[in-house]
Amino acid sequence: MNVLIIGSGGREHALAWKIKQSPKCSNLYCLPGNPGTQEIAQNIDVAVNDFQTIKSVCIENKIDMVVVGPEEPLVKGIRDFFSKNNELKEILFVGPDSQGATLEGSKEFAKKFMQKYNIPTASFKSVFKETIEEGDKFLEQLKAPYVLKADGLAAGKGVLIINDIDEAKKELREILNGKFGEAGNCVVIEEYLSGIEVSFFILTDGENYLLLPSAKDYKRIGEGDKGLNTGGMGAISPVPFVTEDFTQKVKERIILPTIEGLKKENIEYKGFIFIGLMNCNGDPYVVEYNVRMGDPETEVVMTRIDSDFLEHLIACAKGELKNEKLLISDKYGLTVICVSEGYPMGYKKGINITINSNLFNQNEGLKLFHCGTKISNSGTLVTNGGRVFAITANCLKEKGLSDVEVIEKERDRIYSAIDLITYSGKVFRKDIGLDIIGYLSPLYERNIQK
Ligand code: AMP
Ligand code: GLY
Repeated sequence: MNVLIIGSGGREHALAWKIKQSPKCSNLYCLPGNPGTQEIAQNIDVAVNDFQTIKSVCIENKIDMVVVGPEEPLVKGIRDFFSKNNELKEILFVGPDSQGATLEGSKEFAKKFMQKYNIPTASFKSVFKETIEEGDKFLEQLKAPYVLKADGLAAGKGVLIINDIDEAKKELREILNGKFGEAGNCVVIEEYLSGIEVSFFILTDGENYLLLPSAKDYKRIGEGDKGLNTGGMGAISPVPFVTEDFTQKVKERIILPTIEGLKKENIEYKGFIFIGLMNCNGDPYVVEYNVRMGDPETEVVMTRIDSDFLEHLIACAKGELKNEKLLISDKYGLTVICVSEGYPMGYKKGINITINSNLFNQNEGLKLFHCGTKISNSGTLVTNGGRVFAITANCLKEKGLSDVEVIEKERDRIYSAIDLITYSGKVFRKDIGLDIIGYLSPLYERNIQK
């Protein structure tokens, strides 16, 4: 089977790494891919939203299956483009159509969907320019902090959490006046949910689903979860506070009604759903839906799947997930992201990188996923994005080691590897996984019981 992965980040490198292991994979292509995917697949330098050129690529390379990484082409209708085109419609496709992608493309749509199908989420109000005063009244009914979300896609920047009500009212006006462009034509104001966040992922064919390993993302730029929100500075899977009981609640209260709701809305959904959840005293609430896998969560989730992932993707695209069995290892997956200085605000690109690749080649279970890198005109590896690498470890579930010892060892391996990657302005968080070590250690349990 010839497979085309659309996207160019760490998520797509991790997907490519996993798909490549399948005996069913003959030729693997990444569009546009990155220098990491180039080592295991053939990169094709075409933009993810250039559907016409993607069509030619699929025909020329006899592509049998397309897997879409990022949300933008999905929201822009890449699946619809394929299904309406006679030359493309037989290609197996993982990713929802534009209507399904609205779950991520419009926060208002997602909230109304959850409200309609009784899926637990924060209470909310959608506000438009004409209804600003209703927005002010709703803010007055809420307790601080106040959550304001631009309705549309805003490159991860459209959510503000504000402590002061006057500032919240001011920001409401600024968003409606174009602070985030058209994405802010509607603002969703939400009640603040307090709890611990966790990401759940499903692969669904619209009827059945596979529950992939859950993961925890480290969203803030600074250690101790301080500073600006980023796309994610690291991830860990499994998440110890995701108990069987919690998972059961997520399945019954969230996943099943979501799939049922999509069916009732006549949305034929074949693809990933990433459900951002808040665990509020043991009860799950949906913070957001994404219509794709998470990044950097994919970099740990893929390392924990033992079954043939391409086979699951094929079953998803064919609507045959019912009999699929996903095998998940009990290893810990941990990833730390190295970013460019300045990220998530402005940063430089094109900075020379040196890596000791032997380190990764000789260390089974230690992986270097490329996120924002490229090969310069002079043939050297340089930075090309805010997030540059995801350094991932996952193979240390040695006999006799406790979970805490496993995570500690993985942290040591990852941070030693990071020391051997050099580029000017390399920034990373040193505390990835420490909260989980704290959670797993008896002292922490005693503290939280107090
Ligand atoms: P979103 O893009 O909707 O996932 O929001 C980005 C981040 O803002 C989430 O990952 C949460 O950390 C935070 N957030 C969003 N909505 C809420 C809420 N209602 N209560 C608390 N935190 C929230
Ligand atoms: N890591 C969060 C996201 O992919 O949206």
